[in-house]
Amino acid sequence: MDILELMEQRHSVRQYVNKPIEADKRQILVTFVEACNQTSGLHFQLVFDEPECFNSAMARYGKFEGVRNYIVVAGKKSKDLEQRCGYYGEKLVLKAQELGLSTCWVAMSYGKKKCVGHLEPGEKRVCVIALGYGKNQGVAHRSKPMDEVCRYAGTMPDWFEKGVKAACLAPTAMNQQKFMIDLQDGKAVAYCGSGFYAKLDFGIVRYSFKAASGHVLKAGR
Ligand SMILES: Cc1cc2nc3c(=O)[nH]c(=O)nc-3n(C[C@H](O)[C@H](O)[C@H](O)COP(=O)(O)O)c2cc1C
Repeated sequence: MDILELMEQRHSVRQYVNKPIEADKRQILVTFVEACNQTSGLHFQLVFDEPECFNSAMARYGKFEGVRNYIVVAGKKSKDLEQRCGYYGEKLVLKAQELGLSTCWVAMSYGKKKCVGHLEPGEKRVCVIALGYGKNQGVAHRSKPMDEVCRYAGTMPDWFEKGVKAACLAPTAMNQQKFMIDLQDGKAVAYCGSGFYAKLDFGIVRYSFKAASGHVLKAGR
């Protein structure tokens, strides 16, 4: 399936059915996470069949139900930790979507003390991603129109349009979509806005743009 189609199908899912993820899919995800960790130096961990992390007041308040699997999004503390977590986390989210699984990025609505996952000294857990078979497929978020999130002169190249479309489909915390993408001298450059988890969002947006357009989305200053 075309990656943009996968992105169109992906929505945050907060309610899950009690259907274990099959062994073959677990193995694909484990291998995928290992490869991401190797490339990125991050320390993502898959947790299967563990209902306690989402058995908390925060999770219930966030209307989460039946979450038994999740990805611990973590890595060594550094200036760009959040952004790298966003980039590789979204790569994983789309892999899960391809496998017929649903996801939800979760920075607030989970039991932080109950979260299983091992942190090495100097590492930080940035958030988790809920994972499993959804009770529903979620709903498409309201998106800013494309002309509010990108700037270009003349005609928009096809690849740039695909990239911006993917950026608009990307999940962002509270659907804030605080980013701007410019076409400068034939290259895509993005600017990160300020806001809660905006750096994590920025990494998600940069991965989405790259995956759909085939072009790197440089971070502007
Ligand atoms: C970094 C990040 C953190 C998020 N944290 C939460 C959260 O704590 N609780 C929650 O219910 N949703 C959370 N979300 C999900 C967003 O609300 C959701 O992605 C956004 O509304 C867009 O909807 P969509 O993912 O269905 O496209 C988070 C999303 C991102 C990207």
